[in-house]
Amino acid sequence: MSDPTRHDLLQRMIEESKRMVAFTGAGISAESGIPTYRGDDGLWNKYDPVKFANINHFFKQPDYYWNFFKEVRYPVIHRARPNKAHAALAQLEQKGKLKTVITQNIDGLQQAAGSQHVLELHGNTRRIVCLKCGQCHSMEDVYEQLDTRLPPLCPDCNGTLKPDVVFFGESLPTDVLEDAISASQSCDLFLVVGSSLVVQPAATLPVTARQHGARVVIINRDPTPLDGIAELVFHSSASEVLGCLV
Ligand code: APR
Repeated sequence: MSDPTRHDLLQRMIEESKRMVAFTGAGISAESGIPTYRGDDGLWNKYDPVKFANINHFFKQPDYYWNFFKEVRYPVIHRARPNKAHAALAQLEQKGKLKTVITQNIDGLQQAAGSQHVLELHGNTRRIVCLKCGQCHSMEDVYEQLDTRLPPLCPDCNGTLKPDVVFFGESLPTDVLEDAISASQSCDLFLVVGSSLVVQPAATLPVTARQHGARVVIINRDPTPLDGIAELVFHSSASEVLGCLV
């Protein structure tokens, strides 16, 4: 159990904040049953990201990715529900304390918890787009195809389908990244929840916030390379720390 006085300090920092931003990674969704990418039981320990999450490999061998989607990703994301940590951030937004959640996650759980202002740096796997006609399909509809057709094709034009997520080797959506940078530059409290803070350019955002005078708090089970810039660090479970706040 974390030291209650540190919870009080976090509570006070949030109360004093006028423009708070949260930055989330896979760790916030771990307690919803979605594995993280790194750490002991990380996804990338079992599946090579070069083969399963790289854009060049996706175009060379799309069935590799779609089989991974069918057998590994879809089942956990489809049944995942928001947990107490997602709910706490949504409540802080409803109370007018939290302006924006910048997320690296592609699971849509922060929006499902009720948050309205979510910047998805790496996209959202619940949206599957046709690279030919641009039509957007739900991941459930596409999943239906996978028993008979791998890789799936656009039901409207037979074009190639791709999850609306940023693969390694792709750039982040410019408008989303610009909004995230601007939110990091103008906040007075930057709360990191469940990220190893090793993937760029996302991991520069806490540094940007700090450089613009924001107080930084990190809630992450394992130490991160940016713990040194944080005023407060919890190496604990996100839902345990955030669940006490609201
Ligand atoms: N509560 C808090 N933190 C947790 C919990 C938990 N219950 N469970 C795990 N963690 C922490 C781990 O200690 C780990 O440092 O969450 C962190 C998750 O780190 P990563 O798996 O690296 O996830 P993330 O930082 O979001 O990765 C960034 O990398 O592969 C790409 O695009 C992918 O968006 C992802 C990006």
